[in-house]
Amino acid sequence: YTRAEVAQHRTPSDRVWVTHGTDVFDVTDFVELHPGGPDKILLAAGGALEPFWALYAVHSQPHVLELLREYKVGELSPEEAAPPPGDTQDPFAGDPPRHPALRVNSLKPFNAEPPPELLTQSFLTPNELFFTRNHLPVPSVEPGSYRLRVEVPGGRSLSLSLAELRRRFPRHEVTATLQCAGNRRSEMSRVRPVKGLSWDIGAISTARWAGARLRDVLLAAGLGEQGSEWHVCFEGLDEDASGTRYGASIPLERAMSPQAEVILAYEMNGQELPRDHGFPLRVVVPGVVGARSVKWLRSVAVSPAESPSHWQQNDYKGFCPSVDWDTVDFRAAPAIQELPVQSAITEPRPGAAVPAGEITVRGYAWSGGGREVIRVDVSLDGGRTWREAELCPRPERGRAWAWALWELRAPAAAGARLELVCKAVDRSYNGQPEGVEGIWNLRGVLSNAWHRVPVTVT
Ligand code: MTE
Repeated sequence: YTRAEVAQHRTPSDRVWVTHGTDVFDVTDFVELHPGGPDKILLAAGGALEPFWALYAVHSQPHVLELLREYKVGELSPEEAAPPPGDTQDPFAGDPPRHPALRVNSLKPFNAEPPPELLTQSFLTPNELFFTRNHLPVPSVEPGSYRLRVEVPGGRSLSLSLAELRRRFPRHEVTATLQCAGNRRSEMSRVRPVKGLSWDIGAISTARWAGARLRDVLLAAGLGEQGSEWHVCFEGLDEDASGTRYGASIPLERAMSPQAEVILAYEMNGQELPRDHGFPLRVVVPGVVGARSVKWLRSVAVSPAESPSHWQQNDYKGFCPSVDWDTVDFRAAPAIQELPVQSAITEPRPGAAVPAGEITVRGYAWSGGGREVIRVDVSLDGGRTWREAELCPRPERGRAWAWALWELRAPAAAGARLELVCKAVDRSYNGQPEGVEGIWNLRGVLSNAWHRVPVTVT
C-alpha cells in the first residue's frame, strides 16, 4: 500500500488503518477494545502508530506488538517505507537530564523513584533524587514570558508573571511530603495484577517548598464569598498529542484555609523548581495525594465542579477488591484527596544478609491531612511481637505535613531468618491494614498495608 491509501482509512465506517514500521494493520475491530479509549486510538487512524506510542510508553511491551500482529493486512510498498519527515520526532527529546541513581519505572514519560537506601538518608530529599511522576513530556517554559491565568467567579481574572507572583504576594514556606497514590503498587500486583506503574516504596519524597499562598492569589483576583462546595481547578502546560493537558482540582475550602498552607511554589529546597518538578511554578497541596499538586501550572480556576480532567474523574480513586475493569464505575467513587497513614522500611532491603549482633531498621512514616505520626511499631518476627521505633525529632511545630523518619536497633542472633514488619499510627489513631488482600484495587492505589522485609542474619 501507499501511505495515501492508508490515510483514507480514518473512521470505523471507512475502516481504521494504521502503520507500524512497514506493516499495515486494519484495527477497526480493536477500536472499541483499546484500553486507553476509542478516541485515543483514532488519533493515529490513517497514519503511523510510532509518534503516539512514543508518548505512551505502555505500548513498548512485547504483548502489544503480538496483539497488533493479528490485525495485519499488508505492507507499505518499498518506496513508501521511509517514514514521512517529522513523524518519528520524539516528543520527549526535550526532557531534562536526570540523576543516574534514580530507579526508572518508565522512561517516556519519565517516572522514577530514589533507591530506598537513599530515600531516608536525609529528612529533605535532594531535588535530584525526589521521585518524579510525569504523565506527559516535560514542557519547556520561557520564564520571561510565562504568565499564570487565575479565574474567579463573576468573570474576574488575573494574569501574573513570575516577577509579579514574587513581588505582590508574601513568600510562604512549607515543608511537605508528596506521595503518589501508586506508591507501593508493586506489592499489590503481587496479590493480583493491577494496571499502573510498578512503584516500589519510593514514590514519596519531602521538600521545603516556597511560593505564594494560593489563598492570597485567589483573593487578589477578586474571589468573594463562594459556596463551600466549590472547587479550584488547576491545569498544567504539559499536553498530549491531542492537546489534552494534565489537570486536577481540590476543594475550595482547602484552598482558602490559612491552616491548609496550599501554595503556588517557585522554589524547592532553596533552589528554583527543577524542570521535572514543575518549573517555573507548581501547586503544592500539603497532606494530599501528589496528583493534585499540579506542575508547570498554566491556569487556576474557581469552579462549581471538580476538574473535568481524566486524572480527576477517571483515575486516582479507590474501589472494593471485587471491582474489576468490566464493573468499575469511576463516577461512583470520590477522587482521592487526603491519603491514609503509611510507613515503610527502607533499610535493610528485602533478602539482605545482615551481620549478627545489633540490627538497625530504618524507614519513613507519614499520614495525610497533616495528621502527625505518633508511633511506629516494628516487629522482627512477622508481627507476633512488637517494639516501638524511635522517631527522629520533628524539625517543625504545627501540622505534620512532612514524614517522620524512624529507627530501631535490636539484637539479632546469627543464623536467624527474620521477617521485619513496620506499621505506623497517626494522631487520629488510624493504623495500617495488616494485609494487602483486603485493600487490593484494580488501579493499585492506596497501598498501605504493613510493610514486610525478610532478611537473614549471618
Ligand atoms: N502535574 C502535571 N502538570 N503533570 C503531571 O503529570 N503528575 C502528578 C502531580 N502533578 C503531574 C502533575 C502526580 S500523579 C504526582 S504524584 C506529582 O505531580 C508528582 O510530583 P513530582 O514529580 O514532583 O514528584
